[in-house]
Amino acid sequence: MSNKHNQQKLSSARFSESTDAFVEAFTASIQFDQRMYRQDIQGSIAHAKMLTKVGILNESELRDILDGLQQVQNEIEAGEFNWSIQQEDIHMNIEARLTHLIGITGKKLHTGRSRNDQVATDIRLFIRDEIDAILPELKRLQEGLIELASREANTIMPGFTHLQTAQPVTFGHHMLAWFEMIKRDVERLQDCRKRVNTLPLGSAALAGTTYPIDREFTAKLLGFERITENSLDGVSDRDFAIEFTAFAATLMMHLSRFSEELVLWSSAQFQFIDLPDRFCTGSSIMPQKKNPDVPELVRGKTGRVYGHLMSLLTLMKSQPLAYNKDNQEDKEPLFDTVDTVRGSLRAFADMIPAIIVQKEMTYEAAKRGFSTATDLADYLVGKGLAFRDSHEVVGLAVAHGIQTGQDLSEMSLETLQGFCDKITEDVFEVLTLEGSVAARDHLGGTAPNQVRAAVERAKAYLMSF
Ligand code: ARG
Repeated sequence: MSNKHNQQKLSSARFSESTDAFVEAFTASIQFDQRMYRQDIQGSIAHAKMLTKVGILNESELRDILDGLQQVQNEIEAGEFNWSIQQEDIHMNIEARLTHLIGITGKKLHTGRSRNDQVATDIRLFIRDEIDAILPELKRLQEGLIELASREANTIMPGFTHLQTAQPVTFGHHMLAWFEMIKRDVERLQDCRKRVNTLPLGSAALAGTTYPIDREFTAKLLGFERITENSLDGVSDRDFAIEFTAFAATLMMHLSRFSEELVLWSSAQFQFIDLPDRFCTGSSIMPQKKNPDVPELVRGKTGRVYGHLMSLLTLMKSQPLAYNKDNQEDKEPLFDTVDTVRGSLRAFADMIPAIIVQKEMTYEAAKRGFSTATDLADYLVGKGLAFRDSHEVVGLAVAHGIQTGQDLSEMSLETLQGFCDKITEDVFEVLTLEGSVAARDHLGGTAPNQVRAAVERAKAYLMSF
């Protein structure tokens, strides 16, 4: 690096020797923060307009700055921008190029601000843009879940606890459980957006600025709903990024659990579902294989998002006020979180409505595990037995079923009466899988009626967001 170049560095006047070449590269962030170029330019445009409004820049200077920034943006988007490590980060790269293009006026743009409030503004704009791209993808996933739930409202499958057959449920009901989880994720993200959407610009380096700035004006131009109320907090706060990543980690946790079910269900042992070929790959050696790669990968990618959350929390935990260079480390975890979440969501939103349910298999599986045993116990309580006694009776009947290879619904009335003489012909209404699910007919229950009602509520909710 030449001395001449170094003299162009913003901080160079104070230094008597040039930065060590390795240190220069080590401390630079341009390799990754160039991803925020749009937000950086957007922030600079608003800042320049505000400086003009309060009389620090004149109209012709503003015009030069706006034209220059437009050209910088064009160069970046055309892939013609010459990114420079010597200019350290996105802010200085853009400003140096602007100054090269329009001369001395370019150097006035930084009046009344610092890279500290500039970067805080850029990240907030960046996350806000990402939130606005992620919300419609979450909605698309929810629409897919509703479609599948409504298609499979009557489909019976075993419901599990401890991964052991517990009671029959409807496939639609199971899908709507995932809908509820995603709905809470949406709410978390919407709530996070409110705090992200706050303007820190005007905090300057840490203490505010001596210029007569108009922060409300800048906030309005950038669409921020609020303004940070303490300059020290404004430059150093990264809570909003942590919150966003916590949302992402929770969403990935849900997608990972869901993935686990899809992987199990598409196995030869379960055969509950068939994932369309376009979401799977084969094996290079075993010709019979069809691997559920998409859910497997989403499950696997969950780990890195958890890691990013832990990185950001740890990044912040020991920082004294106000800005510290440590904060430069917030970007890579954040960017990877965004990419991982958007990729995983896109894959899921495409895949879910395309799932093919093997109804005969889910039905047979529900029959195999004595899933209506609780229904028989409840029936006996209806006939006057205490629940503990009926539990005992049903246990004996199940033991008999295991020995003889029969489901409860397949036993004769005489056989059942051998366990309890209160049992009559009407027992078969509760022992069938259809009877069992239909009986759970209340808000939140698995009955097909309830699934259809929940689908309608879910559709109405989706209209509102
Ligand atoms: N590249 C820095 C970051 O990402 C920008 C702010 C640097 N400020 C400073 N005074 N060194 O946080």
